[in-house]
Amino acid sequence: MLIKTRRRSDVLPSEITPESIYRDRRRFLQTSALAAAGSLLAPGWASAKPMEALEPLGKIAKSDYSTDEPRNSYEDITTYNNFYEFGSGKEDPSRYAPDRLDHRPWTVTISGEAENTGEMALDDFMQGLTLEERVYRLRCVEGWSMVIPWAGVSLADVIRRAAPTSRAKYVKFYTKYDPQTFPAQAARGMSFLASIDWPYTEGLRMDEAMNPLSFLATGLYGKEIPSQNGAPIRLVVPWKYGFKSIKSVVRIHFQETEPECTWNLLQPDEYGFYANVNPNVDHPRWSQAQERRIGEFFKRDTLMFNGYEEEVAHLYAGMDLAKHY
Ligand code: MTE
Repeated sequence: MLIKTRRRSDVLPSEITPESIYRDRRRFLQTSALAAAGSLLAPGWASAKPMEALEPLGKIAKSDYSTDEPRNSYEDITTYNNFYEFGSGKEDPSRYAPDRLDHRPWTVTISGEAENTGEMALDDFMQGLTLEERVYRLRCVEGWSMVIPWAGVSLADVIRRAAPTSRAKYVKFYTKYDPQTFPAQAARGMSFLASIDWPYTEGLRMDEAMNPLSFLATGLYGKEIPSQNGAPIRLVVPWKYGFKSIKSVVRIHFQETEPECTWNLLQPDEYGFYANVNPNVDHPRWSQAQERRIGEFFKRDTLMFNGYEEEVAHLYAGMDLAKHY
């Protein structure tokens, strides 16, 4: 999700340089950028600590919504991440989050246009909800994808329990705001991380949120979800680009108007509110027609709505998806 503006006619380094060299260079640039941001951050930012201990989740029901495509390895899923609160490199979340993100205890607040509002301990929030496994494809707007076996609960069940009023047309999600935990939230100056309007927020239209595919994940591969993947609870919306799947959620807010969300605020011409996976609508700086499944060499064609067309296409009937990107 780099946001340097580029004219359509510009040539990407990836178009003139072998991929491996380009990737190394990009990693170097990201590391340098982070080092620059890191100098603005509290001491301890750079200390790598061992992986956290994660408990098995117990009984998890299987779901018809799961794909039977081969799953990415635990290693892939937990070491190649986007979690900008910990830096912009793919390895930053697994390097820093397990040590820095203290997610026990955790509370979730329901607010806005709903009858049952208030703050709840996560254990109470989870009471009475059915824990399910959902093996979903995740497609990042950057052009990579994975298949991930999440465990968690249906967002629709959470919403029904909150009892939204008739004025609730949208749901907005907030990641925790805590600059002590998330160094990037304390970034200052001209850095990319400082330009983000923290905390990270995302939103869905109410009918999207109520779709049976919308999911709140608390687990991965049968165990608690690791910090770098959004512990202890994160949204998963598999037919949308990965940036909609907000991590480490502390607030679910019902409102009448379309929410302002992090990427949409930062770069509205690149990241729309809907962000449905769509191979026919290119990102202004790159094509969305294909993707690289992490662990595979050749690219594959990207599927409309990330392969979930049957379940979600009706939500957008009559809408111009090039306009509502
Ligand atoms: N949530 C928060 N709070 N911060 C982030 O930077 N990155 C998003 C999304 N959720 C992000 C976030 C992006 S761009 C992607 S692709 C997915 O998380 C990646 O999820 P994963 O690291 O579990 O694969």
